[in-house]
Amino acid sequence: MVKAVAVITVSDTCFKNNSHDTSGPCLAQLANEVFPEANLHTIIIPDEKEIIERELKYFSDSNIDLILTTGGTGLSSRDVTPEATKAVIYRDIPAISVALTLESLKKTPMAMLSRSVAGIRDKTLIINFPGSKKAVIECFEVIRPVLSHAISLIK
Ligand code: MTE
Repeated sequence: MVKAVAVITVSDTCFKNNSHDTSGPCLAQLANEVFPEANLHTIIIPDEKEIIERELKYFSDSNIDLILTTGGTGLSSRDVTPEATKAVIYRDIPAISVALTLESLKKTPMAMLSRSVAGIRDKTLIINFPGSKKAVIECFEVIRPVLSHAISLIK
């Protein structure tokens, strides 16, 4: 049973003006479809590695079952979500990143530019998504079939 899910939008732009956030609400809606019984937490934070790490640790330590991040996976110098995620996970799940990349490449060659990471911290599954609504929808369909089983294995 998935009790709580957190969706973290990582974006300097959205942090300054949250009306710009389209990928976060989309990801939250998709998560709610799969886990309608779960408490859903959503926050918007800037592209700062220390802040991303702090929030990932906070939600994981608060017994959140699943943390989905959107944004900050690309190549610009401000894109540090993968580095922050790697810094807090205890075990990585490289096949999730591979699956996201392979399936996304069927939609756009730009998928090569995402460095999304997935992993486990304590009892929490953490998955990075790119920062556009389109990418969130495409990537969520890739992980949807395995999400519940993955979380049940971590418990
Ligand atoms: N993956 C999918 N499935 N669909 C997309 O449209 N966009 C790409 C990529 N991954 C995309 C995608 C683009 S244009 C970029 S720049 C990278 O994700 C990184 O995005 P981010 O820096 O917003 O996380």
